[in-house]
This record gives sequence, C-alpha cells and structure tokens, in this order.
Amino acid sequence: MRKLLSLLLVLSLVFALVACGGGEQASTENDSQEQASTENAEAMPKIGVTIYKFDDNFMSFVRRAIEKDAKDKAELVLNDSQNDQAKQNEQVEMMISKGVKSLAINLVDPQAAATIISKAKEVDLPVVFFNKEPSEEDLASYEKCWYVGTDSSESGVIQGKLIVDAWKAHPEWDKNSDGKLQYVLLKGEPGHPDAEARTKYSVETIVSEGIQVEELELQTGMWDSVKGKELMDAWIAKHGDNIEFVICNNDAMALGAINSLKAEGYFEGEKFMPVVGVDAIPDALTQIEAGLMVGSVLNDAANQGKATVDVSLNAAQGKDILEGTEWKLDDKKAVRVPYLPITLDNIQIAKDCYSE
Ligand code: BGC
Ligand code: CA
Repeated sequence: MRKLLSLLLVLSLVFALVACGGGEQASTENDSQEQASTENAEAMPKIGVTIYKFDDNFMSFVRRAIEKDAKDKAELVLNDSQNDQAKQNEQVEMMISKGVKSLAINLVDPQAAATIISKAKEVDLPVVFFNKEPSEEDLASYEKCWYVGTDSSESGVIQGKLIVDAWKAHPEWDKNSDGKLQYVLLKGEPGHPDAEARTKYSVETIVSEGIQVEELELQTGMWDSVKGKELMDAWIAKHGDNIEFVICNNDAMALGAINSLKAEGYFEGEKFMPVVGVDAIPDALTQIEAGLMVGSVLNDAANQGKATVDVSLNAAQGKDILEGTEWKLDDKKAVRVPYLPITLDNIQIAKDCYSE
C-alpha cells in the first residue's frame, strides 16, 4: 500500500513537473510571440485606410495597388465608407481607437476634410488624403497632413487636346456641317475637384484651339456606369444624331454611354459616335482597341496607390514623408502623379499600368 502510495506520489510529481515544464515552455512561446508582434508592430505599423466606396470602378484599382504595396510593410485597417461621410467619420474614430499610426483617407465628401483633420489633430496623428483633394486651407491647417493625387486640371486639358486632334482628323464627324462641335457631357460628382476641373478644362481647351462648340446636354452621372447609360439613353432619344461628341469625366460613365449607343445601333456599319473618357481602366482599353472609344486619359492608379502607401508609411514611422521615395511635394503639400493621353497608338502604357 505504502509502495503504491509512493509510486503515485512520484508519478504525480513527475506529471506536475512535466505539466509545469510544458507550461513554462508555453509561456516562453507566448512571450516570444508577444515580442514578435511588438517587433512586427514596429516594423509593420498599422495604417488606417478608407475608400469612399468600394464599388467605384477606378478606386478598386487604387485599392488593389495600396494592398499590394503595403504587403509586408504595413498592417492595413481597410474600410469601405459606402459613400456615406457620417460612416467614414465613425470609421476614423474606430481606427484611432485601434491605435493606427497614420490615416490614409479617400474622402466621401471633399468638404469633410476639416472634420477628419480635427479628429487626427486631437491625437497628433498624421493624415494622408488621396484621390479627393481637400481645399488648400484645410491642407494648410494641419502640419501633419498631405495629399496624394493628381493635378485635376491636367486631365481636362489632355482630354480636350485628344478631342481636338480626333475632331480635326475626322471632318465627317461634323454631321450637320455647321463647323461646330455639338457635344453632350457626362460629369462626375459635382464639387469633386476632378469633375469640376475636367468639365471646365476639356471644353475650354477645345475652344482655345479655335473650335466652336455647342453644349447639348451636361449632367452628372456621378462617376457611375449605370447612371451614364441612363442619361445617354435619354439624350439619344432627345437629340439623336445631332450629338456629335460624347465627353465623359471618367471611363465608367463612358462605358455606360457606349452601352447605350450600342443598343441604339451605333458602331455598326456607318453609324458612329466619338466617345472619350478619363482613367484608361482595362474595360475602356478594350473599347479603344475595338474602335468604340476614341481615347482616354491615364489616371495612374498604380502610382497613386504606391505614393499613398509610401507617404502614409513614412508618416506612421515618424520619418520625413518623402524619405526613400522619388515623390515630390508641391507648395500645397501634395504629391501629384501625372496624367497621360491614351489612344490606340500608345495603349500599351496604360495596359502595363493596370496589369498587376
Ligand atoms: C476618377 C473617377 C473616380 C473618382 C473617385 C477620379 O479621379 O477619375 O473614375 O470615380 O476619382 O473619386
Ligand atoms: Ca456640328
């Protein structure tokens, strides 16, 4: 009995030791995991990102570029703001409470920059706005805030030139032979700097080249393909062949317009309508190759995504935001990625830009 008891005692001791040892081992593992994750947090800082809405055609490419460039460099907290500024404001608060080290914000409403800035300022957090440019005053109001995007007016000027070249090369497009270019214009979101500048400068550039124009219609299609098609349906019904050019602030709306035109028998036989857009997204490139779209303006999603990651990562690490990059800041604290005209002749450039 005694023997049995001492055996049990020994066994339980051994068991306890093993269990303890195991426990010790487990806790060492835990410690090193914790250590690794602290090291990770230093090497891979958390960056809070919002996209104004995931189902924006162009922004989905910017988002992919951001995800690709942040891989192994930063931990992204990525949010779909679903085109709702109140939702975005909440997301910003949530990200701050999660301890992000910098914010990369694609505003829903360009006017809301001040609200985001004041939240960031309270906790001394850097903010990089991208794609929707805040006002100059807002950008100047906080030392730790920057913008990554483009020079909006440049896209309008390039689009205008593209229209002029095509118009001059095709005198038959002046269908009523009145020497004037009768156009309809699908505008992006009103108040969006890109939409305002493209609308203004594309038409101004045409006029400055000595071509007379007549605006038949100008309405917002909110950057959206379906809305673009609906408007084009209505305009074809109203104006028919009096329309001589379809000018679109982006490709998504241009693609919608092309669908509408196709349904009306355009692009078959002699029936043609020139359409131009901006972005040079892959679906638009397909239409350019098929001869259904005159051209587009490359909005370089890959480099805008890359610059957003570079700048917000440097900001998160407390470095100079341009350190180790080739980006330049202008006097408004903005990194501006250039636009490029795209037609069949140089389509490969756009294809390369949008290939992963
Ligand atoms: C793009 C549009 C896009 C918008 C979103 C613009 O720069 O050209 O396609 O819908 O940004 O803010
Ligand atoms: Ca005409």
